[in-house]
Amino acid sequence: MLSSRVSRLTISQTLAIVEKVRELQKQGVTIYDMSVGEPDHPSPPEVKAAGIQAINENFTRYTAAAGIVELRQAIVEKLKRDNGLEYTAKQIVVGNGAKHILASSLLALVDPGDEVIVPEPSWLSYPELVWLAGGEVVFAPTKVEDGFHLRADVLERLLTPRTKVVMLNSPCNPTGTVMTRAEMDAIADVLKRHRAYVLSDEIYEYLRFDGREHVSAAQYPWLQDRTIVVNGVSKSYAMTGWRIGYCAAPQDVADAICKIQSQMTSSACSISQKAALAGLKGGLAYPQMMVDDFRRRRDICYEELGNVPGMHLDRPEGAFYAFPHIPSMLTGSVDGKPLKDSTGFTHYLLDKYHVAVVPGSAFRAPDCIRLSFATSDEIVREACKRIAAAVAEIN
Ligand SMILES: Cc1ncc(COP(=O)(O)O)c(C=O)c1O
Repeated sequence: MLSSRVSRLTISQTLAIVEKVRELQKQGVTIYDMSVGEPDHPSPPEVKAAGIQAINENFTRYTAAAGIVELRQAIVEKLKRDNGLEYTAKQIVVGNGAKHILASSLLALVDPGDEVIVPEPSWLSYPELVWLAGGEVVFAPTKVEDGFHLRADVLERLLTPRTKVVMLNSPCNPTGTVMTRAEMDAIADVLKRHRAYVLSDEIYEYLRFDGREHVSAAQYPWLQDRTIVVNGVSKSYAMTGWRIGYCAAPQDVADAICKIQSQMTSSACSISQKAALAGLKGGLAYPQMMVDDFRRRRDICYEELGNVPGMHLDRPEGAFYAFPHIPSMLTGSVDGKPLKDSTGFTHYLLDKYHVAVVPGSAFRAPDCIRLSFATSDEIVREACKRIAAAVAEIN
């Protein structure tokens, strides 16, 4: 009786792990958790104060569907300051998180049968959102040997007249990869020859290490009028629960996204919009403080796992994820039991070593695991030591 739309969706593969973690914790077991995809920092004080003030001042009604003007204007200024991009406030739509904006963007652009190119591995919601919009997903594989960087020649081979959207995500969840300017140049060059939209998920923009620069597809003049820049405050201002994301888009696309949003949610939460405004007004100090923490933990992670036999790990370039490749998970066994893939390894790691990670299978990389270093230095070090011991046991 349910729609074919929903029958195609998959249940989150991480749910089983989360449930097991809860069960073990209830039994008093200490879990070294590297599964969580959100900053462990609190929201900045000015964000909290603005939220409280909004409530006290009764700023608790519906807002304009695209978001309050002050917030959209602050986003315009952020895009100018950080990315050199020129937009008007009318081209900005604020939604309930970047995920919601991605969903609305795909609903606005994709007709049944349209193809959407999605890098592989990539964030698990991308294919699901494309399917919800009725589109066909075409996966663009990236390789361990290339450090999971998307290659322009791979993209070019997959583009067809049916390609409606190309999704990009730099810095990347789950691989921690940051696209270089040369790589973006090559991709932008390919896209010169194909009339597809670019849905550029830049939610981890600030979380980059070792002086890597952030390059947005919208910076290429021939792409700006067909790029939707998606960003938000979840990762940059530790505001995941406030649910505020936004996009900057060509006017007709922004209007379409706004129309969809006005029918589905009316607007994003008024209180959260005021809080997000305070976050953006705070500038880059808070994200920089978090990046310093993440870089230190990234280094701990790499120190512990960079040279483990049977594992290949590139030093993460951005976001707060390490994505080690452990090929023996596919063929190996522990205690006489075959692991089969990263899901098997993840359960074994949790049961025996009390370390929680996300199996790469969730991102279509069954021979990898995703480690989030958005947790304390101590947990990162201990969890990584245990992962190394667990990998040594695979035979
Ligand atoms: C790549 C990527 N895009 C978007 C999101 C969603 O962010 P938001 O909290 O703004 O919906 C996430 C959250 O994990 C993510 O990893």
